[in-house]
Amino acid sequence: MHMTTEIKPVPQEPDARLVAWVRQAAPYIHAFRGKTFVIAFGGEVLQGDGAQALIHDIALLDSMGIHLVLVHGARPQIDAEMLARKLKPRFFKGLRVTDGPALECVKRAMGVTRIEIEALLSQGLPNTPMAGGFLRVTGGNFITARPVGVVDGVDYQYTGAVRKIVAEEIQADLAQENVVLITPIGASPSGEIFNLAWDEVAEAVAVAIKADKLVFLSDAPGVVDKKGQLIDAITVEEADALLTRRTKQAAEVARVLPGAARACRDGVGRVHFLNRKTDGAMLMEFFTRDGVGTVMTRAPLAHLRLATHDDVGAVLGLIAPLETDGTLVKRGRELIETEIERFSVVEHDGVIVGCAALYPFSNEKAGELACVAVIPEFRRCGYGEQLCHHIETRAKKMKLKRLFVLTTRTAHWFTERGFSETGVEALPDLKRDLYNYRRKSKVLIKAL
Ligand SMILES: CC(C)(COP(=O)(O)OP(=O)(O)OC[C@H]1O[C@@H](n2cnc3c(N)ncnc32)[C@H](O)[C@@H]1OP(=O)(O)O)[C@@H](O)C(=O)NCCC(=O)NCCS
Repeated sequence: MHMTTEIKPVPQEPDARLVAWVRQAAPYIHAFRGKTFVIAFGGEVLQGDGAQALIHDIALLDSMGIHLVLVHGARPQIDAEMLARKLKPRFFKGLRVTDGPALECVKRAMGVTRIEIEALLSQGLPNTPMAGGFLRVTGGNFITARPVGVVDGVDYQYTGAVRKIVAEEIQADLAQENVVLITPIGASPSGEIFNLAWDEVAEAVAVAIKADKLVFLSDAPGVVDKKGQLIDAITVEEADALLTRRTKQAAEVARVLPGAARACRDGVGRVHFLNRKTDGAMLMEFFTRDGVGTVMTRAPLAHLRLATHDDVGAVLGLIAPLETDGTLVKRGRELIETEIERFSVVEHDGVIVGCAALYPFSNEKAGELACVAVIPEFRRCGYGEQLCHHIETRAKKMKLKRLFVLTTRTAHWFTERGFSETGVEALPDLKRDLYNYRRKSKVLIKAL
């Protein structure tokens, strides 16, 4: 009897885009392992078709070793429960006014919403990102609440504010690789139950557990400027300035923005604003260089600094394609390793995106600006210019009087930045002796 042999599929051409994507995501995957993300979303996410995909993305983040706290809301579910009981939802200043009958609806709607999210997190269907993985979901009495009280003559009754978060318990759950799911309900020390705003809970939890990221999945792609254009990165100061101006933020973004700025100021690494309706928004935001929403940070995302030995690999990776196509002279690993301290690098969100080097000829009070390179995805952001400026400042500190550069293809770029073309004879003696007449590089010089 013949055994039927399995027909193996013919290997396909590798999908270059997929390969490139996975490779560019790798530094982020390494960087996020063991980090803590708080992901906050309203009950709306359960209403569209996106819930399943969102949960799959959460499972994927969990499988990468990211510690996750999920904070959910249930506003539409509470409204529906109230309407079913012929009660009218009441809001004042964007916050629900919770009287006794409303609190009953809150408890019911929150409970049902939580159970539904837990069920989604517990799936393990084959052929889905949940297959083979198991998410252990925990929760508990992590929040102590206090009443909001009377504001501008309106008594919020059972609407509460966060009084205390039991951070150690949440952290202990995370350390055991559990996903912590937090329902925005809190009890007061006297045993009364309060309805809390999910965004306020998320902010308080993120600050209490010193989260690396706080993510708001809301009703718009992110924060917009006064022309209505999406801002991809914003500092806390810029967010403060935006809050004092008239901008047309989406309702939920406007509501969470002040809390987001507070969280960032109080130590949360980054706050992200993403559209809950965009499929894969978190994956695109966290694992691509440009992202899709708005990220808020205390300091600007990009910064220039001197290179260290840890940067050798990144610098090599950055200049290798330019060496291959002849834009830059070949240097090789050994040379970069010994000369790494001559380099300045620009780091964007933890990833090296540009470099430049300074080779001083101190006897002649001159310096060579070399190896200026910015990765293609980050060109035209001003990083090239900032790198040149950084090198000029370093050269001035070394009391150098002129900076020169040799280039075959980028002369214009340098002339637009104050360099002027000169002859080989203007080079310091040592450099002139090494000048490669076959390469025919142009020599440009700038007085400092
Ligand atoms: C040259 C380089 C470093 C500029 O980096 P960058 O971060 O994009 O620079 P900036 O954002 O400060 O400036 C971008 C501007 O320079 C222009 N520019 C880029 N390359 C240029 C060139 N070869 N000639 C003239 N202008 C150029 C861009 O078009 C852009 O201007 P625009 O926005 O008005 O169109 C980058 O293009 C690069 O890495 N090139 C390959 C390496 C190289 O040639 N290095 C120089 C040899 S040492």
